[in-house]
Amino acid sequence: MRTCIITGASDGIGKATAIEIARSREYDNLILIARNSEKLKSVNNIIKDIINSKPIIYDLTNLDGIPNLIKKIYCEYKSINCLINVAGYADPQPLIQTSIGNLNRTYTINVFAPVILIRECVKYMRYNKEVSKILNVASTAGITPRPGWLSYASSKAAIIAVSQTLSEELAEYNIKVYTVSPGRCATVLRRKLAPNEDQSKIMQPEEVAKVISNLLSKDEKCLDGQNIIVRRKW
Ligand SMILES: NC(=O)c1ccc[n+]([C@@H]2O[C@H](COP(=O)([O-])OP(=O)(O)OC[C@H]3O[C@@H](n4cnc5c(N)ncnc54)[C@H](OP(=O)(O)O)[C@@H]3O)[C@@H](O)[C@H]2O)c1
Repeated sequence: MRTCIITGASDGIGKATAIEIARSREYDNLILIARNSEKLKSVNNIIKDIINSKPIIYDLTNLDGIPNLIKKIYCEYKSINCLINVAGYADPQPLIQTSIGNLNRTYTINVFAPVILIRECVKYMRYNKEVSKILNVASTAGITPRPGWLSYASSKAAIIAVSQTLSEELAEYNIKVYTVSPGRCATVLRRKLAPNEDQSKIMQPEEVAKVISNLLSKDEKCLDGQNIIVRRKW
């Protein structure tokens, strides 16, 4: 039995990815993590007939609870084969307005929680006989200048560096670490960053989800570590 955990599964790219992963039938169990129980339940309802899925309401700012969360999942399913870190937070501010609270929240959700989730999952993944996979959703904001988006852009640069470091460090355990950096994509988070944009004209979450799902298939053997930019050009 193969188990996949996905954060940010209640909306946007995470929701589309959960649906795509379920349809791919690559995994037997899919654990959906986010805070909004209604939205998580509705995602679970869409996929529950094709995969053994379970919604877990969890606020990722509670870093101390993550070891127990992952331990419980492992004890119930007896396997952890894949972790997809999609959950993200953005409250872009120019430097002078950037508060400690803004930095703390952005880095906690975008960097610290993914790192602790990875650490706890790897405690089990390192004993898997077959290849395990970790995928972090970063952003093109992490690689090109975004004046006024200090905390968000720098947190995404950090998670890209985390992925690159761990793809080397975890190779000895047959764990592949991917980074996917979407460009602008039609979601609630994007609406905060670009309130006046026509979202019907930009990349849709389902398009990012297809790329993620392909990377997480057993057939994908040749990519690892590098930051994969996902952007619709026309
Ligand atoms: N949209 C874009 O243009 C774009 C571009 C590049 C990268 N990204 C990245 O893509 C990822 C997904 O974002 P999205 O655009 O799909 O945004 P979204 O639709 O707003 O989804 C964000 C997800 O993160 C979850 N989340 C936020 N805070 C959380 C917390 N404290 N604990 C648990 N879950 C939390 C939300 O669930 P709940 O509210 O239910 O907790 C939701 O499922 C993010 O990492 C984002 O930075 C997005």
